Amino acid sequence: MKITLFLEICLFSLAAYGWQHPPIGHEWHPPVPGDSRSPCPGLNVMANHGFLPRSGKNIDLAAVRSGVSQAYNFAPTTFDSAFEQAVAFNLTTTGNISTFNLEDLKKHDAVEFDGSLSRNDAYFGDDHTFNHAIWWTTALRLGLYDYGAFGKDKHVTVEAAARARAARVRDALEVNPEFNASANEMTGSPGTTALYLTTLWDNGADAAPKSWVRAFFENERIPYLEGYQPPEVPRTNVTIAEMFARVSAVNVSDIQN
Ligand code: HEM
Ligand SMILES: *[C@@H]1O[C@H](CO)[C@@H](O)[C@H](O)[C@H]1NC(C)=O
Ligand SMILES: *[C@@H]1O[C@H](CO)[C@@H](O)[C@H](O)[C@H]1NC(C)=O
Ligand SMILES: *[C@@H]1O[C@H](CO)[C@@H](O)[C@H](O)[C@H]1NC(C)=O
Ligand SMILES: *[C@@H]1O[C@H](CO)[C@@H](O)[C@H](O)[C@H]1NC(C)=O
Ligand SMILES: *[C@@H]1O[C@H](CO)[C@@H](O)[C@H](O)[C@H]1NC(C)=O
Repeated sequence: MKITLFLEICLFSLAAYGWQHPPIGHEWHPPVPGDSRSPCPGLNVMANHGFLPRSGKNIDLAAVRSGVSQAYNFAPTTFDSAFEQAVAFNLTTTGNISTFNLEDLKKHDAVEFDGSLSRNDAYFGDDHTFNHAIWWTTALRLGLYDYGAFGKDKHVTVEAAARARAARVRDALEVNPEFNASANEMTGSPGTTALYLTTLWDNGADAAPKSWVRAFFENERIPYLEGYQPPEVPRTNVTIAEMFARVSAVNVSDIQN
């Protein structure tokens, strides 16, 4: 019986999403000591696949443009303003104002803010490394380990993601006496939820496959093995803005857990 269920889940998954291979030269390698990584899973994933320098160092605008295009088929200029915002905070340690190392992005209250889905708040020390305990609270709320009977319930919906985000911010507000996400940063929180949903969106399902969300956050890996393929039509800042509107429209006033 257990075997049958297991096989059903496998077959169902394969039918929905065939196993893909990374492009040659873009295999996944986790960072080695000395490599630089950020509070941003999106950029870390790119570095782990060589869509940014694998060292995570001396990142410039051209690298971000080609990286987001090759990794996720975002239009190359989609993240220009994010890059320019980071540069404007003078957080770079490279010695070149036009570049940064990924770890430089951890500077609190620059681009980095409290209440992240998978990182702890700066108040508790480390605001940039993937944090299993924090992520666990988010993953449970997203139902990431719950596939339901016969492989149903395989997707994260906008509603689930919006509610998980709001609950995480509420948790952070409760435990962090210096929680100081500004109004601007409070739009950053639904913003990063919109970012991962847009990146991992299955247009046909109108949801993000749970297996893809897990690979992206937990392994900082593009889920080729789980069937991810870049979208045929490039995604843009408009795609992200539309997802942001959907996330923001979810009524989260009654979140319990
Ligand atoms: C130049 C481009 C980018 C910059 C400078 C940047 C920077 C950051 C920073 C500093 C954070 C931490 C925010 C926080 O404290 O919660 C962050 C979070 C995040 N970023 Fe990026 N990012 C960029 C591009 C991307 C891309 C291309 C993706 C998706 C493919 C992405 C997805 C995310 C997600 C999902 C989070 C939330 C992580 C969490 O809450 O645990 N970012 N980004
Ligand atoms: C960054 O440096 C520039 C030039 O020195 C300065 O004008 C600007 O105010 C600085 N920005 C921040 C956020 O400190
Ligand atoms: C700084 O980085 C930019 C972008 O990579 C590059 O064009 C420029 O030559 C660099 N400047 C110096 C002084 O190395
Ligand atoms: C936010 O709190 C941190 C400590 O957690 C502090 O270093 C930072 O200066 C504060 N920022 C603002 C804008 O209050
Ligand atoms: C999207 O990007 C274009 C070109 O980079 C820019 O002109 C436009 O203002 C951006 N729109 C949004 C909603 O950010
Ligand atoms: C959101 O939900 C709460 C509780 O279910 C309800 O009282 C409130 O009217 C709703 N707000 C909107 C804008 O629909």
